[in-house]
Amino acid sequence: MTGPTPPTLPVGFVAGPDPAPRLDQLATPALLVDRVRLERNIATTAAAIAGAGVALRPHVKTSKCWEVARRQLEAGAVGFTCSTPAEVSWLLGHGVEDLFWAHLPVGPAKVAFAVEAAATGRVLLEVDSLEVALPLAEAAAAAGVVAPYLLEIDTGQGRTGIDPDDALALLDALADRPSLRCRGITTHEGQLTGYAGVEERGRVGRGVGAGMVALAERLRAAGHPVEIVSVGSTPGAASVPFSPGVTEARPGTYVYSDLTQIRLGSGRLEDAALTVLGRVVNRSRDGRAILDAGTKAMSMDAFGALGGLGLVCDLHLQPLPDVVFEQGNEEHGFLTGRGVAALHVGDLVRIVPNHACGTENMWSRVHVVDEGTEHPGVSEVWAVEARH
Ligand SMILES: Cc1ncc(COP(=O)(O)O)c(C=O)c1O
Repeated sequence: MTGPTPPTLPVGFVAGPDPAPRLDQLATPALLVDRVRLERNIATTAAAIAGAGVALRPHVKTSKCWEVARRQLEAGAVGFTCSTPAEVSWLLGHGVEDLFWAHLPVGPAKVAFAVEAAATGRVLLEVDSLEVALPLAEAAAAAGVVAPYLLEIDTGQGRTGIDPDDALALLDALADRPSLRCRGITTHEGQLTGYAGVEERGRVGRGVGAGMVALAERLRAAGHPVEIVSVGSTPGAASVPFSPGVTEARPGTYVYSDLTQIRLGSGRLEDAALTVLGRVVNRSRDGRAILDAGTKAMSMDAFGALGGLGLVCDLHLQPLPDVVFEQGNEEHGFLTGRGVAALHVGDLVRIVPNHACGTENMWSRVHVVDEGTEHPGVSEVWAVEARH
């Protein structure tokens, strides 16, 4: 097919221009990462987890961005936690030596992938029941592979994971399967997002850590070598890994500190490193401004009963008073509240997303912003990879 040359897409820019493009020169919506905040978040959490005396194995699903992951490794991360085969194979391709695929390999395609991943000697698997473990054991035996795994424990989230009281029976039942090797236990204390008070969350988090350590001791006493006691979340990062006997922590969201963390007090607004840049495109109705950023820019994750799609701020990340990001269509965002009276068509806003991981996964690249000037410039574009 021939035809007129299509116009150049008004997105992004060619890296290395001088001066760097200003935010008001970018096509919107655009996903922005603030370099100073990102690097500070990475360093602060690395120091805190080192202070707990445990290894840091961050969850890579938050960024899916090698430039972020590389900085985490440089700050001392021992490796990464992954959710999907795509994340595992992407990081193996980058030569990362120590991965934990923290999901259950169920179904022939994932079992085959799990065995291949285990054969690299660089990937730990996860198991939480006989139904998950047995097909894996058989496939690993057929391939002549010993697959190392962590037993997932449900410490209160109610998602996957075995009840702590049933863990010993499962390990006993798997003891005659030489193609599987249990290296320890793991939990994701996601239930901590349900505790808004920092103190109560800390108390519950310390209980989760202590419970995991006590379980590890019971399993060892029954003859199961439990080397790894792995916990992981951003709301729990200040408490759960601090129980003596925990060996590793797996927070993920801390690199960006989204609105969920800010509302919980496990992050601060001045740490919010990931934002969506949008522009007002319509003000024709009183009390409402329409943005060019909707659910495909933000993801649909809501923050509990508070709802909304994120915190609406000015270019310097000061929240706009009385402006609510009430809802979105795919490419349209609905801002309401008394404060929209001050907005005009063409105005730029930056939105701190409810959930950084879901938002980043909507995008294939991020624009890196270096703050500090009236119009913070964009200095680099980083790829978001392994999204599926
Ligand atoms: C298994 C597992 N580990 C670690 C994390 C990281 O937790 P957070 O997003 O609170 O940093 C998650 C997040 O969903 C997870 O599912």
